Amino acid sequence: MHVPVMLGECLEYLAIRPDGIFLDATAGLGGHTGAIATRLTNGFVIANDRDAESLALAKSNTVEYADRIRYHHGSFAALPEALAANGVKQVDGLLADLGVSRYQLTEPERGFSLMADGPLDMRMDRSQGQTAEELVNFTSEKELADMIYQFGEERRSRKIARAIVRARPISTTGRLARVIEEAVPRTTRLHPATQTFMALRLAVNNEQGELDGLLDAAPDLVKTGGRIVIVSFMSLEDRKVKQSFQALARAGRATMLTKHVVRPTPEEIRDNPPSRSAKLRAVEMR
Ligand SMILES: C[S@@+](CC[C@H](N)C(=O)[O-])C[C@H]1O[C@@H](n2cnc3c(N)ncnc32)[C@H](O)[C@@H]1O
Repeated sequence: MHVPVMLGECLEYLAIRPDGIFLDATAGLGGHTGAIATRLTNGFVIANDRDAESLALAKSNTVEYADRIRYHHGSFAALPEALAANGVKQVDGLLADLGVSRYQLTEPERGFSLMADGPLDMRMDRSQGQTAEELVNFTSEKELADMIYQFGEERRSRKIARAIVRARPISTTGRLARVIEEAVPRTTRLHPATQTFMALRLAVNNEQGELDGLLDAAPDLVKTGGRIVIVSFMSLEDRKVKQSFQALARAGRATMLTKHVVRPTPEEIRDNPPSRSAKLRAVEMR
């Protein structure tokens, strides 16, 4: 069963009103969307995701509350369009639970996982953009090394990039994982390809650029008194969220609701270990 991360905290910071209009920018499997919908009477929640397969799963997981949910397929850049398509200018609360879902990570066919062999895809939106296979096979060694270093924070990036270029063409996650494993020794419990896979995922999906776009657009999408709640899983992302919220507060456009970052409780981490790196921040628009 899918367990939404920091669900209680997300609902609390969103300050759900039964007649409110909410935007779940990253519907995923519909965990948060469904929980928001159960608290609504006249209101509704717009469930957005750039991954059509995930959105279909969200739909079937939330079928009981479908009358209070409007589904929308698109990236963060299309959020204004998601609102317009539902006759809405601004919402009472916007939630973004960043990154990839369990479904994306564990479905070999999607190519995110180094544990299950599958095609090197990694696109959240399979209808467009470059796959990880294209990136791995057609990027110069230097660009690959820089990308693995910058996005994966991997110190052995040059060695890994050299091994990848020598082993090309590479078309599956399993082979890429093996090439990296043979090139660099395992130094921790983590598989030596973990950070490279992370870097490729971030690059394929332009996740940093998407987050910048979200942080730029969100204040205009939320009403005065409405909330923006963002859950991130990487320090790179949390830093961006923190700086953007601080800038809004300094400009008098928002009030910071989370003076310090909010983390999952020890109980949640025990029951749902992938939640351990979650970091939540929230603001209220003025
Ligand atoms: C951690 S999951 C969300 C899980 C969801 N909150 C739930 O409870 O089921 C993140 C989701 O965000 C989506 N996503 C990530 N970046 C996105 C972007 N730039 N635009 C739209 N969706 C995005 C992914 O496709 C994924 O389904």
